[in-house]
Amino acid sequence: MGNREKSILEDMDGKKRLFNLHCNGGVFNLGHRNTELIEVLTTALEDLDIGNHHLLSRERAELASMLADLMPKDLNVTIFGVSGGEAVDVSIKVARGFTGRTGIISAKGGYHGHTGLALAAGDEQYRKPFGPQAHGFSQVPFADLSALAESINERTAAVILETIPATMGIIIPELDYIQGVRRLCDENGVLLILDEVQTGLGRTGKLWAFEHYDILPDIVVLGKGLSGGVYPISATVIREPLEQVFHPDPFIHISTFGGAEVGCRVAKKVLEISSSPDFLSHVNTLADDFKKGLTEIQTKHSRFFLELRQCGLMMGLKLKDDISGPILTKTAYDNDLLMVYANNDQSVCQCLPPLNMDLDDVNYVMTQLDKALSSAKLLRPIAKGKKAIESVWKKITIQ
Ligand SMILES: Cc1ncc(COP(=O)(O)O)c(C=O)c1O
Repeated sequence: MGNREKSILEDMDGKKRLFNLHCNGGVFNLGHRNTELIEVLTTALEDLDIGNHHLLSRERAELASMLADLMPKDLNVTIFGVSGGEAVDVSIKVARGFTGRTGIISAKGGYHGHTGLALAAGDEQYRKPFGPQAHGFSQVPFADLSALAESINERTAAVILETIPATMGIIIPELDYIQGVRRLCDENGVLLILDEVQTGLGRTGKLWAFEHYDILPDIVVLGKGLSGGVYPISATVIREPLEQVFHPDPFIHISTFGGAEVGCRVAKKVLEISSSPDFLSHVNTLADDFKKGLTEIQTKHSRFFLELRQCGLMMGLKLKDDISGPILTKTAYDNDLLMVYANNDQSVCQCLPPLNMDLDDVNYVMTQLDKALSSAKLLRPIAKGKKAIESVWKKITIQ
């Protein structure tokens, strides 16, 4: 990765320019090197540094208060971290500490990061090489309420889900499913953790994706975009009663760099931008334009591009089979688009453009994507079979 600006990034030699439809899962929701955020960060460095996590902090308090205002009901308390994985770890610690139970149920094919408890809640492939597995974790198929009902028992502390699982291939859950999960949790004294690391901050056309489902989670995890792409920060937002986990010993969980003060200033600006009605209306207008363009393209390439999955600007192109995702990633790259297949369902290519991209750029993206799909259709038969898959892998050289 070389120069980068707004929706565009270049390769290291500056020879290749790519339109960013990946945005690192939302890190670059507000584009690369957003000038407002850079201004906030550089100004913050005139009077602040990281701060000291043993001491009270005005910056952290203001950011936490802003989050409390932007979250519904009593989702009022925030613990800051550095990464999404860390914030997921904290959510699981809180759930276990509050309920006194250990069981954590997550979705097969979901993804919550590579730190300790987050890794344990994720798929086996990511933890298998690293020794004994943590106890208390189990996985059920996503969008299957009966499987969840069978799996919940008196030892279950929490169910953790991405509101819209990204690595699983942008599965947009039905209203009934998410509301059913909430109901099952309520009936069994189980907490509901929603991982909004990718779906939060306007990605789906609402500030938080769970707003589409008219439910209140007990814990919401935020990361990626909160950084504005310029200073790492993550947040675990919990309902007020859960705070009692920290009353006996407020230092039972600490993070030296979590909620670094300069990062808090950036995150406040991110929240201010992302929650503004004009911004969300722009996201929804873009989403409508993408829907129109992608539906036309899907009709044209319908035997290869089977289905459009979309909630706001969280989009997935469901393709013919597992080799199609890597192939489209390659041909999109050849056509100056950065879009990447979903690792836990490689038949889906994720499409996550910057939320503040220009409306005028949608046509360009559609033209390039149309060409990429035409090439992918030609490349796919050549790439069939195991050997061929390996050769495709070798050709994918994103720098
Ligand atoms: C949904 C989700 N949760 C958690 C994480 C982990 O975030 P991080 O890589 O910052 O630890 C990711 C990262 O891709 C993610 O997509």
